[in-house]
Amino acid sequence: MARWTALVVLAAVGTAVAVATNPGFVARITQKGLDYACQQGVIELQKELEKIKIPDISGKFKIKLLGKGSYEFYSMAIRRFQMPSSEIRLVPNVGLRFSISNADVEMNGKWKARKFIKISGKFDLRVDGISISADLKLGSDPASGHVTVACSSCTSHISGVHVHISGGSLGWLIQLFHKKIESALRNNMNKKICATVTSAVSSKLQPYFQTLPVTAKIDAVAGIDYSLVAPLTATADYLDGKLKGEFFRLAGRTPSPFTPPVLAFPIDHDRMVYLGISDYFFNTAGLVYHEAGALQLTLTDDAIPEKSRFQLTTEMLGTFLPQVARMFPNMKVQLLLAVSSPPRLTVSPEGLAFIPDLEARAFAVLPNSSLALLFQLGMHTNVFVEVGARSDRIIGRLTLGRLSLELRHSNVGSFSVELLQALMNYFVPEIVLPKVNERLQKGFPLPLLARLQLSNLVLRPHQNFLLFGADVHYG
Ligand SMILES: *[C@@H]1O[C@H](CO)[C@@H](O)[C@H](O)[C@H]1NC(C)=O
Repeated sequence: MARWTALVVLAAVGTAVAVATNPGFVARITQKGLDYACQQGVIELQKELEKIKIPDISGKFKIKLLGKGSYEFYSMAIRRFQMPSSEIRLVPNVGLRFSISNADVEMNGKWKARKFIKISGKFDLRVDGISISADLKLGSDPASGHVTVACSSCTSHISGVHVHISGGSLGWLIQLFHKKIESALRNNMNKKICATVTSAVSSKLQPYFQTLPVTAKIDAVAGIDYSLVAPLTATADYLDGKLKGEFFRLAGRTPSPFTPPVLAFPIDHDRMVYLGISDYFFNTAGLVYHEAGALQLTLTDDAIPEKSRFQLTTEMLGTFLPQVARMFPNMKVQLLLAVSSPPRLTVSPEGLAFIPDLEARAFAVLPNSSLALLFQLGMHTNVFVEVGARSDRIIGRLTLGRLSLELRHSNVGSFSVELLQALMNYFVPEIVLPKVNERLQKGFPLPLLARLQLSNLVLRPHQNFLLFGADVHYG
């Protein structure tokens, strides 16, 4: 009885922990993605297998009529290692199984035999029906958050060795050693194939996995934490990496005040990878940039194009608010535009909703360069958010709806905000928005392995997350 209670308690604790470590970002690889990875992997593995060195084979022979002698096969080199059929399969709860069947190797070399006289020649050799099966165990390095991969088991099998002697009248002699060569080669190749596969995984694949960014530095303000929050999970249909997916300030990290949502991933197969980007990811970005004071912009008169309808001077403001020109004659004006609370993006199946809390403060620049606050406005608008991806980055673009203004404070007497509508309708979408979009077009790095480019993008909003599907190209 006591034991059951303990189990139930443990199970409950386990669940609680699982909930606490919801990923902010999920990267999923489908069988289609694994097929592509397999294709690329085979190209790399082939190069490694072709480097296998075959040791010389020598021995003695004893033939009834001829008596005793010795033979040697040497300078053997692999010409071609062909792997026409290969696959990577998901092994639920374990990882991946990489298998190759019907591979064959072409080799050539030299031979010599000695009895009373020395005879020698060249030969071609084919080893065929090679099959290889290797289990890849995926894990994570708890210290660095990196994905790890290791070859946990490997077996190979060779079905035949065929020797052809070129320049052939001495073929009969070779036939005498056929069995010996065959078993020597079979043993040798068998050992070396798995050793080569295991070492290719640790010396090539593992370092490649290390190129998956764990923390991606973005700019002077922030980085993104893409460390794994749980070991990779393999099911029958896909391989999932659950990543933290959280922006943090480079100047000092504080725990995020909100938690990542549960991402109810649909089962899609037609793209190689799917990325689930939660609203948590976007909202930690909003928080971090807001806290760093990066979500504000000061507009000065020199930032305004000369042929613009409006210049940032008290004269120009005076055409709408005559008291400004009276109180601060012939001065420049500075406009400080800011997002006044951390912006939050809501993702739902209907789309993305983003209603930032904007604020504008106008200052007169006094002759001694200090600033005198004229008024402070609150601004509300619907922002239409488009999200996309370019190469290995997530990019965005904002379009603004109609601005509605509210006077929050004035040092130039009260006035109707409608007087400033035309002015703000010009400054915010025409001057400020392009700067914001320029930054968003630069984008933010996605957690991709090196040399991968995304193509065939599909993008769908779901409850609390955006689902990106894409094919990848390794180049
Ligand atoms: C600048 O001039 C204003 C008005 O003349 C004055 O109130 C303010 O103290 C001056 N500031 C500095 C830094 O001298």
